[in-house]
Amino acid sequence: MRTPLVVANWKMFKTVAQAVAYVREFTGLVSGMDDVEIVVAPPFTAVHATAEAARGSRIAIAGQDLYWEAEGAFTGEVSAAMLREAGARFVVIGHSERRTKFGETNDQVNRKVKAATAAGLTPIVCIGETLNERESCETLRVLDRQIKTGLDGLTANQVAALAVAYEPVWAIGTGRNATSAQAQEAHAHIRSRLSEWFGAEAADACRILYGGSVKPANTKELVGQADVDGALVGGASLDPKAFAEIVAGSRPGRI
Ligand code: 13P
Repeated sequence: MRTPLVVANWKMFKTVAQAVAYVREFTGLVSGMDDVEIVVAPPFTAVHATAEAARGSRIAIAGQDLYWEAEGAFTGEVSAAMLREAGARFVVIGHSERRTKFGETNDQVNRKVKAATAAGLTPIVCIGETLNERESCETLRVLDRQIKTGLDGLTANQVAALAVAYEPVWAIGTGRNATSAQAQEAHAHIRSRLSEWFGAEAADACRILYGGSVKPANTKELVGQADVDGALVGGASLDPKAFAEIVAGSRPGRI
């Protein structure tokens, strides 16, 4: 069975001091919840301090993005090796905010996924349709393109090890989460495509997270779906108590 994976994406929130204070409080709140893998993605500036604060706990740290080159004249960018050295083990790639606000393409997502994998970071690859695409019945086709190009060239083992996050753009930060049926339909589709393109074993092992207005009150219902293996949480993850409740609601056997 897949271990649930619950990820806090803090986006552009929290200073170093705030991030460290959060981790100190949060580690106590989730102690004993060993059946869920927990990841926190702070802004780049707080990756190292957050990783130090989380040392010895079960909380792993993620970058929110990276650049695919190892080094060079790329002002403002951060490499996979830099993230690793700062203490990250995971990295969020292709978040819809990167795609819509910074013009990131599926090809760029693919380069980033390959760079992360080569450096030993676990990618959390974000995909999802806009409201317009959903209303014009394009959802599954959009997801297909995002997966096909985003994961192009990866081996079955690499796909087995990474996580895909299905985040419908219309559900992000809106308070309007996908229904559990909508999430399950998308997740089952994603898993069937992974199976077709990378084999049944990889598809079975790959964790597919749901993101978009996840909160303590809707976690069990969403993560209780057969193909929903955890959550990628924005707003509700900024409060350690709320995020700890989301982790608790994602525990297997408690759904
Ligand atoms: P919200 O949980 O604030 O809707 O954000 C979801 C998200 O974008 C996580 O990456």
